[in-house]
Amino acid sequence: MQDLFEKIYKNKGPLGKWASQAEGYFVFPKLEGPISNRMYFKGKKVITWSINDYLGLANLKEIRDTDADAALKFGNAYPMGARMMSGHTKLHEELEKKLSDFVEKESSYVLNFGYQGILSIIDTLVSKNDVIVYDVDSHACIVDGVRLHLGKRFTFKHNDIDSLRKNLIRAQNFVEKTGGGILVISEGVFGMRGEQGKLKEIINLKNEFKFRFLLDDAHGFGTLGERGNGTGFEQNIQKDIDVYFATFAKSMASTGAFVSGDKEIIDFLKYNMRSQMFAKSLQSALVYGAIKRLDLIIQNPSYKDKLWNNVNDLQNGLVEKGFDIGNTQSCVTPVYLKGTIPEAMVLVKDLRENYGIFCSIVVYPVIPKGMILLRLIPTATHTKEDIDVTLDAFSKIRKKLEDGVYIRLSNSIVSV
Ligand SMILES: Cc1ncc(COP(=O)(O)O)c(C=O)c1O
Repeated sequence: MQDLFEKIYKNKGPLGKWASQAEGYFVFPKLEGPISNRMYFKGKKVITWSINDYLGLANLKEIRDTDADAALKFGNAYPMGARMMSGHTKLHEELEKKLSDFVEKESSYVLNFGYQGILSIIDTLVSKNDVIVYDVDSHACIVDGVRLHLGKRFTFKHNDIDSLRKNLIRAQNFVEKTGGGILVISEGVFGMRGEQGKLKEIINLKNEFKFRFLLDDAHGFGTLGERGNGTGFEQNIQKDIDVYFATFAKSMASTGAFVSGDKEIIDFLKYNMRSQMFAKSLQSALVYGAIKRLDLIIQNPSYKDKLWNNVNDLQNGLVEKGFDIGNTQSCVTPVYLKGTIPEAMVLVKDLRENYGIFCSIVVYPVIPKGMILLRLIPTATHTKEDIDVTLDAFSKIRKKLEDGVYIRLSNSIVSV
């Protein structure tokens, strides 16, 4: 028998092992100043490409004034308790009505957090005789929701409809024995690489198989669909999504989330989602702010237009310069380079210190060994100058990477 902590002392995990060199810089960096296209990192102004404030609402005067007003009106505490017990308000209902109209579903329910919300949605929709079939690249919150499931679960290869069909056959064989049903889960936009889920093709499989479809549209809500009402509208299949989920943490620039669908299903979720029944409801100040944000998104398409002008300028510029941006079909802009983790660290430091550009790096184990993914999130607040400076800097750092400059500088970096 060993001390429980023994394994932690020995192995800090695939990312944790870099902590002594990475913390405060590559991970847990502190971005300071108002949320915008340019923020402060270690006292220096940088072009910020790593914030999901897609529509640029976070620091709009109207939004800041609304949030301040909400703080005065409600404070941070109100209402106290879970929705079901003492945490329910007229404002929650007002927001839910607006959300339902916007995403064209019969009913909606506001959730205290996205992560816990979807975890509970999954847990509540299935019981042990049911099968979940979900995209292997799903966000951690979906994976954790699936972990709670006591019955069978199958993954399908990322966005691979043949693989989904094969797994639906397996699922069908299983539920024929148990008498259960099938839940398919995918995402509107996969946040790491930016591809849209193949929602149309998934929905078409409803002609061959009996299943219900849950969509996590965290990155699609606000950015896709003619009115910003999500990937379901973008692909013209919104009405076929049985349970629609999105968070307020991205385009809405806030905290909280919601789920929409037929009233009977949403009512069932309201009465059974453990993360909502046994946890504090979303504060009124945030609900008040969410109503204002949603009104702005509905009434003012210019935020989304500005966002997409920037997305197109950035992505076209990168492609013209010969960068590999994979198969993105959204605002998420990945730039793939070849290199080791130490090289990636030196490269990103160079970008931040010498070119004033702050973007996230993603390395193994999230992507294959030997690859570096620089992930850029354009927003409505970026300017043409931000894009030009970034394109120029990227060309320069790619040249240095290819010339071996970073490998030489990285020789001193070793994992602990
Ligand atoms: C796809 C996806 N789903 C759910 C969540 C969780 O949302 P929240 O931050 O509101 O908990 C995220 C957040 O990063 C996400 O990217």
